[in-house]
Amino acid sequence: MMNPTNTLTLNSQPFNPATSKVAVLGAGIMGPGIALVFAEAGYRVTMCEISPENLDKGMASLRDSVALKVSEGLLDDTQARQIIERVDARVGIEDTVAQADLVIEAVSEKKEIKQAVFQTVQKLAKPHTVIWSNTSTLNVFELIEPDMAGRLLVAHWFAPAHIVPLVEVVGDGGNTDRLVTETIDILKNIGKVPVRLNKMINGFVINRLQRLLGREIFYLLESGVISPEDLDIAVRASIAPRMQVLGVLQRYDFTNLNLSVRNFQDPDFTDPPFEAVPKYLQDRVNEGRLGVGTGAGFFDYQGRSSLEMQQERDRHLYRVLEALGEYVDGPRPVR
Ligand SMILES: NC(=O)c1ccc[n+]([C@@H]2O[C@H](COP(=O)([O-])OP(=O)(O)OC[C@H]3O[C@@H](n4cnc5c(N)ncnc54)[C@H](O)[C@@H]3O)[C@@H](O)[C@H]2O)c1
Repeated sequence: MMNPTNTLTLNSQPFNPATSKVAVLGAGIMGPGIALVFAEAGYRVTMCEISPENLDKGMASLRDSVALKVSEGLLDDTQARQIIERVDARVGIEDTVAQADLVIEAVSEKKEIKQAVFQTVQKLAKPHTVIWSNTSTLNVFELIEPDMAGRLLVAHWFAPAHIVPLVEVVGDGGNTDRLVTETIDILKNIGKVPVRLNKMINGFVINRLQRLLGREIFYLLESGVISPEDLDIAVRASIAPRMQVLGVLQRYDFTNLNLSVRNFQDPDFTDPPFEAVPKYLQDRVNEGRLGVGTGAGFFDYQGRSSLEMQQERDRHLYRVLEALGEYVDGPRPVR
């Protein structure tokens, strides 16, 4: 159930598009998508960078995402223009941090960079200003001074941030309980699907699941059990649509829990050996095959640009989410 904008608060201050200012720090892969979500919800957003080139690229990426929404019939030209007008671009973060009510940190995943950003917020931001960190793996609560406690939490988005609905929200225990609740209300209000994590764990939830799955994926490929093409077909034709309907847990209820116990007990079902970095993955990196950005990864993109590949991905994601909206918006656990 979406909260009306006029009841939203952040750190006990009213939070709404008419009066609240949002700063997005970092215009790499994640920043532009996050900025777009807030701008689409009517907020004035300033996206900041240390690198002027990356700021230009980030703004171009935001405009490309808006143009794709127009071509998909999700926005009209007037809405598109208004959204882009709501986003300012700045090199440097100080002035913007000083004026913001919400600072969203999507800077490079390096401890010292995040720590410097938190110090700037502590020094320059208004006393009520809250900072959401988009860190993927760092325990950011260890990087702040004690008097910042209660103003920082993790709101972890997924790429592409303006399309994938989930945001994992994690606070720092009792200090941030209320802030987590307010954050969840704001995220719902701007159309995201937030979930609350009850405690900090590195990698949060979804990246931990993906990491574990990755170990098995690279083991199967390395062992020659299946080709990369067939592996992706197999997943798309089985667990991907089923997970969309049943999540990962409710599936067990349909399978019968006894059968699942027997599967875990099966001595012939061996787990993959632990490799710090799976060789199958490292080999591609050593060959310079890093993915769509370099024209090849596990698959060959035959000269197609990363923008073209991303737009194709995003078009398919819009279709899938449209078709399965009700399953994205609310889980249906058996009670
Ligand atoms: N890429 C993903 O799929 C993904 C998903 C979820 C979370 N994250 C997390 O989000 C954060 C950003 O990830 P990304 O993939 O967008 O990184 P990125 O490397 O693409 O972009 C980071 C940007 O931050 C800029 N930057 C560095 N220091 C800055 C500063 N002090 N002020 C302003 N800008 C600064 C860099 O110039 C760079 O353009 C990271 O913490 C990452 O772990 C990434």
